[in-house]
Amino acid sequence: MTSLESANPAPQLPDVTQLVVGVLGGTGDQGRGLAYRLAKAGQQVIIGSRSAERAESAAAELGLGVRGMDNASTARQSDIVIIAVPWDGHGELLAALAGELAGKIVVDCVNPLGFDKQGAYALTPEEGSAAQQAAALLPDSRVTAAFHHLSAVLLQDPQIATIDTDVLVLGDERAATDVVQALTDRIPGMRGIYAGRLRNAHQVESLVANLISVNRRYKAHAGLRVTDV
Ligand SMILES: NC(=O)c1ccc[n+]([C@@H]2O[C@H](COP(=O)([O-])OP(=O)(O)OC[C@H]3O[C@@H](n4cnc5c(N)ncnc54)[C@H](OP(=O)(O)O)[C@@H]3O)[C@@H](O)[C@H]2O)c1
Repeated sequence: MTSLESANPAPQLPDVTQLVVGVLGGTGDQGRGLAYRLAKAGQQVIIGSRSAERAESAAAELGLGVRGMDNASTARQSDIVIIAVPWDGHGELLAALAGELAGKIVVDCVNPLGFDKQGAYALTPEEGSAAQQAAALLPDSRVTAAFHHLSAVLLQDPQIATIDTDVLVLGDERAATDVVQALTDRIPGMRGIYAGRLRNAHQVESLVANLISVNRRYKAHAGLRVTDV
């Protein structure tokens, strides 16, 4: 082994360059930031919204060939659908779009959090996590979870070319998590790391409460790195 070879070579991941990525709630900070980064990396991206007009206007602001449409059309026309809506609207939105999302790779990045005087804290959904709620509501979709720990501020900043972070990718189907890892790897600086099955999504979603504390104390936009991988 030469010094340039890793002891843990990355597994072969699929080519995702031709896949269309939709972002439900793509008019918000997180969705818009992901849409921007993926489109900049050359991915075809559709921003979804409850209002087609809002989606079109957010897409026009981003440029880069990004299209905007209502959430249902976005789900229908995409191969991979990122869910980037607040926890409060998560269940209702997914239940309404179960048909449109059938057969799609769904990537849930929703962090169920509460906030009080002491800061952010993790909520525990009845199903165990937002990702497990998605899986329960979307039995015909290929549900994964990723992108929980990214800073929307960094994602949206056009002055920042590289975002130095790993992205934990969870899911119960290897082929689906491989696609999401490959998608993550398209964004300069990011690396998708498989991090277990959906039953372990709660800790990953909850860790955002800790990252918010880090960010407040150190005035940072902290990311995560997994070592020795
Ligand atoms: N912000 C971050 O740094 C960050 C980082 C990692 C993960 N996340 C997760 O990403 C998700 C979105 O975060 P965000 O900061 O982008 O939130 P946000 O701006 O408050 O909401 C995103 C979009 O969701 C739509 N929406 C709002 N309420 C809804 C409802 N009840 N039902 C359906 N759609 C609704 C809105 O779009 P329309 O009005 O156009 O439909 C809104 O623009 C959250 O679950 C969060 O935990 C955020």
